[in-house]
Amino acid sequence: MKVVVTGGAGFIGSHLIDRLLEEGHFVTNIDNFDGFYSESIKRRNIEGHMKYDNYKICEIDIRDKKGLDEAIPSNIDVIVHLAAKAGVRPSIEDPIAYQEVNVTGTQNMLEVAREKKIKQFVFASSSSVYGKNPNVPWKEDDVVLQPISPYASTKVSGELLGHVYSHLYDIRFIALRFFTVYGPRQRPDLAIHKFLKLMNKKSTISLFGDGTTKRDYTFIDDIVNGIMNSISYQGSLYEIINLGNNQTVKLLELVQKLEEISKFKANICWEAEQPGDVKQTWADVTKASKLINYNSNFSFDQGLQEFVKWFKEVTDE
Ligand SMILES: NC(=O)c1ccc[n+]([C@@H]2O[C@H](COP(=O)([O-])OP(=O)(O)OC[C@H]3O[C@@H](n4cnc5c(N)ncnc54)[C@H](O)[C@@H]3O)[C@@H](O)[C@H]2O)c1
Repeated sequence: MKVVVTGGAGFIGSHLIDRLLEEGHFVTNIDNFDGFYSESIKRRNIEGHMKYDNYKICEIDIRDKKGLDEAIPSNIDVIVHLAAKAGVRPSIEDPIAYQEVNVTGTQNMLEVAREKKIKQFVFASSSSVYGKNPNVPWKEDDVVLQPISPYASTKVSGELLGHVYSHLYDIRFIALRFFTVYGPRQRPDLAIHKFLKLMNKKSTISLFGDGTTKRDYTFIDDIVNGIMNSISYQGSLYEIINLGNNQTVKLLELVQKLEEISKFKANICWEAEQPGDVKQTWADVTKASKLINYNSNFSFDQGLQEFVKWFKEVTDE
């Protein structure tokens, strides 16, 4: 298969490309090494890819439609669109940039799909689209989408744009709603990685709220399996699918587990709840299991052990 991955130098994208290259697929990676976190981390993520003849990296911004037209060949089987400005809290600081990259950038990628007749499009959506929906665990057909951050609203927009293109142009569009993904190479701004880094440096960890907020954490290998199965999904033309672990972990419990596994000590400082943060996320994965044979194989304990092992091997912080 010939696959375009956007955001392939990032956390999830680089793992997906590991798998695609191992399986012998041709990969074009579109990534602009956005400054949200250190470029050197992203360069390290893709180091292993550079030796493959069936791999090409194009340093292009997805806002640059002309650049995309020139870089993306016409005989592509599938686009996996992961590039985005990620992160809930920073989106409140800079909502326009989030709109431009996550919405206009997504529309550019859909236009490329239309013009180059690429018939399969997998989109990285997010659990954050459910927002304040009280009906847990969250199901894809819940009508209550109440996003509470600019980031979340851009992901809702991406899903809606996908519907337009699947309806008008027969592009199969699969939106995967990822639930907090973790594992080796996890983004440094995300809770597990950020906490362990601070614990390692003996610095203080700020915990927002009272420690009872809950997250459904999903191990990266499970997410990659879900994406791979969506790439080959041949059912209906438009689907939205949760990829989660179907289990919730309280914030304080997470910190305690990190202490237990890493043997580092956490110095906690309690702070007020943050605007834009939801109280809990919890995925119903029945649909994922039925449509794309998805299983969350990694328990939270197993996944956390893998993460801590990786962190201790690579960290220089
Ligand atoms: N990690 C999670 O827990 C999680 C949860 C829900 C949804 N998602 C979504 O999954 C996708 C991947 O997330 P991640 O955690 O791997 O993030 P990441 O930041 O590690 O990867 C995103 C990549 O996109 C690239 N990028 C950003 N802006 C770009 C632009 N304008 N043009 C080209 N490339 C650009 C970045 O350089 C980066 O390499 C994102 O769409 C994110 O919103 C992630």
